[in-house]
Amino acid sequence: MKGRLIVWEGVEGSGKTTQVAAIAEWLQSTQSQEVVTTREPGGTALGKHLRNLLLKEEIHTIHDKTELCLYAADRIQHLEEVIKPALAQGKIVLCDRFTASSIAYQCYGRGLDYSLVEQFNQIATNGLGPDLTIWLKLDVRIGLQRVKLRGESDRFEKAALEFHQRVHQGYQDIALRQPQTFITIEANQPQALVTQAIQQALSKHFQEFDET
Ligand code: TMP
Repeated sequence: MKGRLIVWEGVEGSGKTTQVAAIAEWLQSTQSQEVVTTREPGGTALGKHLRNLLLKEEIHTIHDKTELCLYAADRIQHLEEVIKPALAQGKIVLCDRFTASSIAYQCYGRGLDYSLVEQFNQIATNGLGPDLTIWLKLDVRIGLQRVKLRGESDRFEKAALEFHQRVHQGYQDIALRQPQTFITIEANQPQALVTQAIQQALSKHFQEFDET
C-alpha cells in the first residue's frame, strides 16, 4: 500500500500537538496502515540539536538566511532518516510542520525572498510534497495567549505580534493558492470539534485516494 504524508501547520498555540495525537489514535483504529508521528524541527537525533539551536531563547544572533538553512538541514535529515523510509513501507506519516512553515515563517515572517525559500524547500525535498496539509487556523492573539498560559516561551513565541500576523497571512495565502491540498480547519473551537472537523477532511481525502 502507498504511504501518505499528512502535514500539520499553524501559528504558535494552534493546538497541533493535541490534534496530531488525537488523529494518530483515530487513524490507528480505522486504517490498516501503520501510523508514524513526527515533527520539524527535531524529528531525528541531529534534528533535536538543530531544534535546540533554533528555538533556544538565548541565541539572538541567527541571521535570517542561517535560520532558513538550518530548517532546510533539519528537513533533509528528517526526510532521509524518517519520512522517506516510512512512506516506502506504506505508512501514514503525520508530520508536525513541513515546507509551508518555511514559507510562512522565513518568507512572510522574516521577509526573505519567496523564491529563495522555495529553492531551499526544493533542495530539501527534491519535490516530495505532502498528500494533504491540515492548517489549524487561529487568531494569533489567541494562540499566543495559550502559549503564555503554558509557561516558558521559545525564541519564536517571544517574537512580536506583527511577526506572527505576517506568518498567519502566509498560511492564508498558501490556503488560497492550494485549496485542494491545504485544508483550513477553524481551530478556535472546542478540541473535540476540531478533531471532528479534521476527521471529516481526512475521511474525504482517504475516500478520494482509494478511488484513484
Ligand atoms: P513547534 O514545533 O513548537 O511548532 O515550533 C517550531 C518553531 O519553528 C515554530 O515557531 C515555527 C518554526 N519553524 C520555522 O520558522 N520554519 C520552519 O521551516 C519550521 C519547520 C518551523
